[in-house]
Amino acid sequence: MLIIPLFFNFGVAVGDVDTSSFVIWSRVDAYGYIIVNYEISEDSLFSKIIKAGEIKTDSSKDWTIKVFIDGLESGKTYYYRFKYKQAYSPIGKVKTLPKQLDRFKIALLSCQHYSENYFWAYKYLLEDSVDAILFLGDFIYEYNTYRNPRRADPTIYADNLNTYRSKYKLAHSDPYLKEALRNIPIYVIWDDHEVVNDYAGKAMKYYNPKRIYDAYKAFFEYIPIKDNDSFRIYRSFKVGDLVEIFLIDGRQYRDEMACRPTFNPKDDCYKVAFSEGRTMLGKEQKNWLINSILNSKSIWKLVGNNVMFMGLFKDKKPLNLDQWDGYYYEKQEILSKIKDVKNLIFGTGDTHVFYFGEVLYNNKRVAYEIITAGVSSPSGLKALSDTILKQNPHIKFMNAEYRGYVLLDFYKDSLNVYFYGTKENGDRILIKKEKILAKH
Ligand SMILES: [Fe+2]
Repeated sequence: MLIIPLFFNFGVAVGDVDTSSFVIWSRVDAYGYIIVNYEISEDSLFSKIIKAGEIKTDSSKDWTIKVFIDGLESGKTYYYRFKYKQAYSPIGKVKTLPKQLDRFKIALLSCQHYSENYFWAYKYLLEDSVDAILFLGDFIYEYNTYRNPRRADPTIYADNLNTYRSKYKLAHSDPYLKEALRNIPIYVIWDDHEVVNDYAGKAMKYYNPKRIYDAYKAFFEYIPIKDNDSFRIYRSFKVGDLVEIFLIDGRQYRDEMACRPTFNPKDDCYKVAFSEGRTMLGKEQKNWLINSILNSKSIWKLVGNNVMFMGLFKDKKPLNLDQWDGYYYEKQEILSKIKDVKNLIFGTGDTHVFYFGEVLYNNKRVAYEIITAGVSSPSGLKALSDTILKQNPHIKFMNAEYRGYVLLDFYKDSLNVYFYGTKENGDRILIKKEKILAKH
């Protein structure tokens, strides 16, 4: 069959896949109130359609379409597509999570400022046959770059529903991203740039509730995540008994920053940052996270986290109070509860720098933290690398030179970690490999 994706310029995507359900997504280039059909099939020719239906969309959703599909078999490959008038979307492919498995490959991605660079990382995810993408924040940026852009951004600064939507359309127009999301399930959390740089949700809900609402609404329209009334994005997924993934929201419920600017802050900020009672997660989410980790029966526990968890110090002072150091008391409280959990990994974005290090509590390792660089956003920390490594012995590796991604290859006995950089010409380079042995 001839497939020309008329109407479906942004391709298709699937997210939040578990053993029996997933969310399929697309957007229709149309106008007015329209009805779109969807089909789920066991084969790519759509001769074994097991579910089909219609979905309505219009300007209130910016013509995005999202369908929650459930009642599926575990560990099974399905194909899906949409149809509007006589044209079909590209065909998406998705495998539900198996109940038992020996190996699972997760890519950590973050920070894809569209005009800062091409999204090379997605090209290699397809070559690596990655099982799932964990996107750890900054799927869009609210601002345009004028520093050293590699490609044009025709949109304007985002601060309302329509301008946020334009940024998502821009991201979804990248051909490598489209092809990857057509073939690989994605699990997304947000960081700050889905709203505005360094915002703290609890405070901002008072002084600019409309902007935050618009930004979250656009995120839910353009990301394949299950809809809910409260914009809750913290959630977990069990990949057999091999790995359980805990995705957290470090923005929506957080208290105002200890001070601004958050980077290299003034001395009197630390007292505030370290004071009791400050929260990044909010009480409900914090309790959910602690209890979920403690109750997990999986070998590996992976926390999908937006900002650096382990300490980052310069001259014995925290370097960045937007990170967990700015909410030190809560971080210590969490660590005190989960300190005996085995095989705990933090996977993090935000800093545009690759890091591998140890999360310490009372000088004992509680977890490893693996931080991915930006897909396209550049780092400004290169000049500080030597100082950081020297003054933070728990940080074992750091690379602020490359953009790229991290591949986590989970086995029952070990986790192989590949730090992949992408070069200016799109080549990929393996910067570093780490192997972590599982404790049983
Ligand atoms: Fe970022």
